[in-house]
Parts: sequence; structure tokens; C-alpha cells
Amino acid sequence: MPQPLATRAPAKINLTLHVLGRRADGYHDLESLVAFAGTGDDLRLEPGPGLALKIAGPTAAFAGNDADNLVLKAARLLAERVEGLKVGELHLMKRLPVAAGIGGGSSDAAAALRLLARLNNIPLSHPAVREAARLTGADVPVCLEPRARMMRGVGEALDPVLGLPRLFCVLVNPRVPVETPAVFRELGLQAGQVLSGAPHPAMEGASPASLLDRLKVARNDLEAPACRVQPVIREVIGLVEATEGCRLARMSGSGATVFGLYGDCTASAEAAKRIRRERPGWWVKATSLR
Ligand code: C5P
Repeated sequence: MPQPLATRAPAKINLTLHVLGRRADGYHDLESLVAFAGTGDDLRLEPGPGLALKIAGPTAAFAGNDADNLVLKAARLLAERVEGLKVGELHLMKRLPVAAGIGGGSSDAAAALRLLARLNNIPLSHPAVREAARLTGADVPVCLEPRARMMRGVGEALDPVLGLPRLFCVLVNPRVPVETPAVFRELGLQAGQVLSGAPHPAMEGASPASLLDRLKVARNDLEAPACRVQPVIREVIGLVEATEGCRLARMSGSGATVFGLYGDCTASAEAAKRIRRERPGWWVKATSLR
């Protein structure tokens, strides 16, 4: 039986994000603990003569048109590198908010590469797949195999993080898009500038309690600049922090999505209910991270 050509494109959460400096090419060197949520978009591939993309779902209207969608960009980059690549029509069920700091577009693009690799019997470790991912965007490589990783460089250096306990969380987005370049600009580093700060804590083999301690001493360096670009993020952090049982509230990526961590799924479900009651227009999801 052939495997169905469908895959989940989970939300990517930056549990930590330390900016180490700005490179000569303008990109920033990062150190980030990335985990993946139980919630996400879904992508299906119907093999056919040409590449095409159909987008449906609650946030489809915000996903950009065919020309600038990262799914097609990734697929084209792979087709340029693999002669005779079998392709088809990609169907994206878009549920995640866009320009939200949870890697929706990057995860969709990585999902497209997974499906095309599967259709063509190419391993994900193949240099053409890796290169297509890297050229699509800084966050695409980490999304290729969605498992917890320490991400370094601009996102291309990936190390597995073993023994990360399952985390119960709430994701909250105020439905205000945030442009990543604007947040990095607001950080205000010069090209070539290197930051010296406290080292990123090790995350390997942490128990749930010690992981939380380590996460607390780490940070998201983009949180402050993102809050200046989009002040509502402060309000989101405050609201999540105020929910019962919240152990840590922090922005993911360049925002505006904020995650709250809880001790169990009852606490996260209750917190989600409360936030939905207080801000009915916001996107609120109780989920788990791994
Ligand atoms: O690679 P991607 O197109 O997703 O990056 C979007 C923008 O975010 C870049 O143009 C750059 O301004 C900024 N960025 C950065 N350093 C990174 C990742 C992204 O400066 N490590």
C-alpha cells in the first residue's frame, strides 16, 4: 500500500532565542531551543503533471498569494535541483496565524519538501533537500524534521535535544501580524557586531522541573524589540502570565504569538478558556510541545 501523501506542518515554538550578534551579510547569529506543537497546518500532495498550490482553512486569506507562498518557493527550489522531480498539486489547510512567530510558512514549506521527497524516494538528508530548505528561509531547515532541536547560526546548524519532557502550553496570538525584518531592525545591531552575554543554558536531559529553571534563565532577545514594534504583545504576555498555574510566559520567534507553560493539560485548557473569554477575537490554542 502506498503511504498517503499528507503531512502535518506543526507550529514551531522558540522556547528560547538568544541573539549572539549580527553577521556581515545582515543576518543574525542565534541560539534557540526550538520545539514543535501538537497544532498546525496540514498539507497534502496529489501527484500530477505540474506544481500548483490550493489554500483553504480559517487563516487561508492571510497566507499570501501563490507567487510568494513559501510552499511553492521550496518546491521550485527542489525541482531546480533534482532532475525529473515528480511533482503535483499541493493542498494546504491553513489554520495557524501568519507572520506570527510560530513558523507557519516555514513549517508549510518544510512539509512540502517532506512530501516531494517521499514521492520521489529522496531522503531528507539529501543535499538538494537541505539546500532547498535553507534557501527558502532561515527557519525552514529546523522544520524539515519537526523535533526539538538546538538551532544555531542563522538556523542551519541543528542539534537534537534528547530527553526534553512533554510540555503543556497555551499559544496566544492577538491577530496582529509582525514582520520579522522590522523586529530585527528594531534590535538595532550593526553588521559585524558581536554580543557578549550569559551563555545559553544546556537543555539536554533536563527533568520537567529543571527544564523550567533553565528556560527561565534563558530569554527571547526579540521580545523587547517586538513589543516596541507591536505594543499589544506586552498585553498578551501579561494576560498569559496572570492565568492560574502559568509557569512561564514568553514570546516565540519575532512574535506576536506568546506561549504559556503549565504543569498539566487541565491547567493549560483552563487558561485557554479564560483567555478566550477575556479576548474573544484572539487566536488561542491549548496544546503540547515536544
Ligand atoms: O530567512 P527569512 O526570509 O525567513 O528571514 C526573514 C528576515 O529575518 C531576514 O530578511 C532578516 O531580516 C531576518 N533574519 C535575521 N537573522 C536570522 C533570521 C532572520 O536577521 N537568523
